[in-house]
Amino acid sequence: PEFITVQELANRMTERSSDVVKALMKLGVMATITQTIDADTAELIVTEFGHTIKRVTEGDVEIGIEGDTDTEGDLLPRPPVVTIMGHVDHGKTSLLDALRATDVVAGEAGGITQHIGAYQVTMPSGHKITFLDTPGHAAFTEMRARGANVTDIVVLVVAANDSIMPQTIEAINHAKAAGVPIIVAINKIDLPDANPNKVRQDLLQHEIVLEEMGGDTMAVELSAKKKINLDKLEETILLQAEMLNLRANPNRRANGTVVEAKLEQGRGNVATVLVENGTLRVGDIFVAGAESGRVRALLDDRGNSVKQALPGQPVEVLGLQGAPEAGDKINVVEDDARAREIAAYRARKKREQAAASIARRTNSLEQMIA
Ligand code: GTP
Ligand code: MG
Repeated sequence: PEFITVQELANRMTERSSDVVKALMKLGVMATITQTIDADTAELIVTEFGHTIKRVTEGDVEIGIEGDTDTEGDLLPRPPVVTIMGHVDHGKTSLLDALRATDVVAGEAGGITQHIGAYQVTMPSGHKITFLDTPGHAAFTEMRARGANVTDIVVLVVAANDSIMPQTIEAINHAKAAGVPIIVAINKIDLPDANPNKVRQDLLQHEIVLEEMGGDTMAVELSAKKKINLDKLEETILLQAEMLNLRANPNRRANGTVVEAKLEQGRGNVATVLVENGTLRVGDIFVAGAESGRVRALLDDRGNSVKQALPGQPVEVLGLQGAPEAGDKINVVEDDARAREIAAYRARKKREQAAASIARRTNSLEQMIA
């Protein structure tokens, strides 16, 4: 069965379509860039170019857009990316603020904390953890709906005086659907009516079995307000990260995901990018969603200008031609022409998708009227 056009395949691999046509010819397949080829041929081509291939569902193939395939020896541990979720008022924002204050390298710089959609904490041991600081389910599901699964670990905040509430259940379902492990932060243990054991019991009804009850979900009792056990939570996150064996290759062209993007007075289009693989550097030419650009400046979560950003690091990127959307992929490419080519392709694709969704809506409207 046919399933991908030559053009699309080339774009997903960030290769020139003419090179893909040539490679196909070598395999005895004559195809123009608008023609569709089957999954097996596509897989052969992908391997030929040294990219990785991932079949997500039957007949549908997702191809790593990033440059060269990483070999075992290239891969180094990278910091985990954590999203905090939980019911209203259970302490998500308080916990994010409290964790941020545990950063051991923050002090000396004395920088004012910037809201860039994510921040990184360095622990006394030197280990780093990245937190997406847009708490809540909407951000998580929106990103996921757009194909961006950047979260490695969900910290589920449950107030010990309130236990499981509707949005707690919603968060559990989101995390499970995404296949992301949960760490339970049993918060507000400083309150006199705190009942952490009730939280443990209630979680059982939602198939969350904590380690101390023979399951495999880790939990930490803490107080975001009184700053109790924040270090314990961080250690637990690192432990979970270790089990996930999160690794990346810093020695390659960067790719990542846009976490936030906006047009700012005097600064132009600014995007917060989470680097997923490779190292992003000032001067790099990139495509972010349907926008291309060249990195004019990089700013960390304290607003300090930096020359580069490593895997797992959130960074503000200046130098975009337009504003990408949260969840868009960013890829560093070899030159301007390539960046513009991919940007134009993605823009066309977005227009097609928008047109298709309008057509769907018009159809259902007509059906309703009829
Ligand atoms: P939403 O963003 O509205 O969903 O709330 P949230 O989950 O971000 O909760 P937030 O951090 O705003 O905290 C809600 C209230 O609980 C605030 O009044 C906090 O001061 C309080 N609070 C948060 N953590 C603790 C804690 O550990 N102990 C106590 N006693 N109060 C806490
Ligand atoms: Mg909040």
